[in-house]
Amino acid sequence: MNIRHWVRPEIQEMAGYTPGEQPDAARPLIKLNTNENPFPPPPPVLQAWIDSLDFNRLRLYPEPSSRPVREAAAAAYGVDATHIVVGNGSDDLLTILLRTFVAPGETVAVPEPTYSLYRSLAQIQGGRFVGIPWAADGGLPLAGLLASQPKMVIIARPNAPTGHVIPLDSVAELCQQTSGVVVLDEAYVDFADDNGMPLLQEQKNLIIIRTFSKSMAMAGMRIGLAFCPPALAEQMHKVRDSYNVNRLSQEMAVAALNHLASYQPILQTIRRERHDLTIALRHRGFQVTESQANFVLARVPAGHGRGKDWLEALREAGILVRYFGDDPGLSDHLRITIGRPEEMAQLIEAIDRLLQP
Ligand SMILES: Cc1ncc(COP(=O)(O)O)c(C=O)c1O
Repeated sequence: MNIRHWVRPEIQEMAGYTPGEQPDAARPLIKLNTNENPFPPPPPVLQAWIDSLDFNRLRLYPEPSSRPVREAAAAAYGVDATHIVVGNGSDDLLTILLRTFVAPGETVAVPEPTYSLYRSLAQIQGGRFVGIPWAADGGLPLAGLLASQPKMVIIARPNAPTGHVIPLDSVAELCQQTSGVVVLDEAYVDFADDNGMPLLQEQKNLIIIRTFSKSMAMAGMRIGLAFCPPALAEQMHKVRDSYNVNRLSQEMAVAALNHLASYQPILQTIRRERHDLTIALRHRGFQVTESQANFVLARVPAGHGRGKDWLEALREAGILVRYFGDDPGLSDHLRITIGRPEEMAQLIEAIDRLLQP
């Protein structure tokens, strides 16, 4: 008997998802590698958390379907709570979606490059994963996606790691033309100009997922929301862990949803810093994709080393960025999370030092 005998072939064969590094607190690094929010949650949210803190309640299991969160989200986003499923982060929702809709052997199609967890989750589920390159102009490769006869198509909008968005009309067209379900991953949508929520009314095979990890500065609490027709939500509730969102996270999510407007100044600052960083990098010879997320994808200037060299040199300078060395087409790219203004200034100073002959 050995491991090959025990472990499912799909798991043995897959590489497994590699999350971005979470450095230990001993060395203060400027952390621009996992698209967290560089600002603390706004004061009204922090105050509501402090006011609601009661450790004695942690004896009790949380509400199984996160009903308080669904109700607060329903009020905040103008939908009914029956249209919402809450996850332990949106990664949990992605797992639930794959398990609910994709049987072993069925196809999950995605435009690539994109969030590589989609591939890992499809593999775990025993699904057939098909990656279709984005169109040359960044548009949706509709024909290629449909030709793969997908049971599920997943689109990140804004996409990671590029930060670009496709027109919402393309999403609607995909929903109408595929016989499968369409998952619109809106992890970064609060930094974008528009969102897909209006599509939910017409498209019965559309599921939108959101996260509190980015715009709402709660990556450590692990909260995500799925919006979809109630008939689909009902099936997803059967699949999720019975208590998939812990009590503390539920309470904190409710407080955040009750003060949604208070996040606006943070979001505006991040958008402004994104604009300034894009210009500053382009000015220094980087090719930067137009981003609507809280990060930019930058191709390093020719003649100044490879992407990996930049990753290491910036790390030496105390700045952590994300590098996707193994992904085709991304070996000279860095993904840089938008940080606080002073962090962006230090990044540019470090880049200027590295560019000196
Ligand atoms: C496109 C995309 N979707 C989902 C996630 C996962 O977010 P969460 O923290 O909610 O699991 C990420 C995180 O980096 C992401 O980039």
